[in-house]
Amino acid sequence: MIVAIDGPAGAGKSTVARALAVRLGFRYLDTGAMYRALTWLAMQRSFDLGDAHALAQLARENPVLFPEDDRVWIGGTDVTSSIREARVDRMVPVVARHSAVREVMRDRQRQLGKEGNVVIEGRDIGTVVAPDAAVKVYLVADREERAKRRMAERPGIGADALATDLRLRDESDAARMQPAEDAIEIDTTSLEVDVVVDRIAALVHERTAA
Ligand code: DC
Repeated sequence: MIVAIDGPAGAGKSTVARALAVRLGFRYLDTGAMYRALTWLAMQRSFDLGDAHALAQLARENPVLFPEDDRVWIGGTDVTSSIREARVDRMVPVVARHSAVREVMRDRQRQLGKEGNVVIEGRDIGTVVAPDAAVKVYLVADREERAKRRMAERPGIGADALATDLRLRDESDAARMQPAEDAIEIDTTSLEVDVVVDRIAALVHERTAA
């Protein structure tokens, strides 16, 4: 069974999806980490981030690996922390925008999501990667709250810079951020993580029982 968790940056996807996977005993797949890893590798190798063809080729030749929970590898390097750097935050939408890159990533995501039960987190999971997902959730939160959460994750960056980054990222992600028609929207602005996880777990149990 696939549980798709989509939504904008800072809506609580990672926290919720990870906790949900633990609660349900499902695997967890972070598709944002895959775009981040490719961006890191492309920057490392001084690729032109506007060259869709070269980036798609790079993605094909260097599949992102998740050898153990929460570790992300690409091109023989553990990039778990480097992919969370501000420079990657800024460039990842540029890389994720190319359809040729997305094709490669989506194929890989479908492959990784094929076996067993998995919670998949991203932007286009319920719409494109796994339109048949058993449960689809679209998380949202006020922009102010999302900026606050980002600040807690990125203590080294100023509030203004973060707010600008978030706005630019929202604009650039917007085309991919449409919720699936059959997704359940949850506004996490004033909800505890546990409450959100409870709600989604209940949806999964309903599905399993049906
Ligand atoms: O969720 P995140 O911040 O780690 O995502 C990083 C970037 O990757 C973000 O700019 C949106 C993009 N992304 C995407 O286009 N499609 C996905 N399925 C997941 C992430």
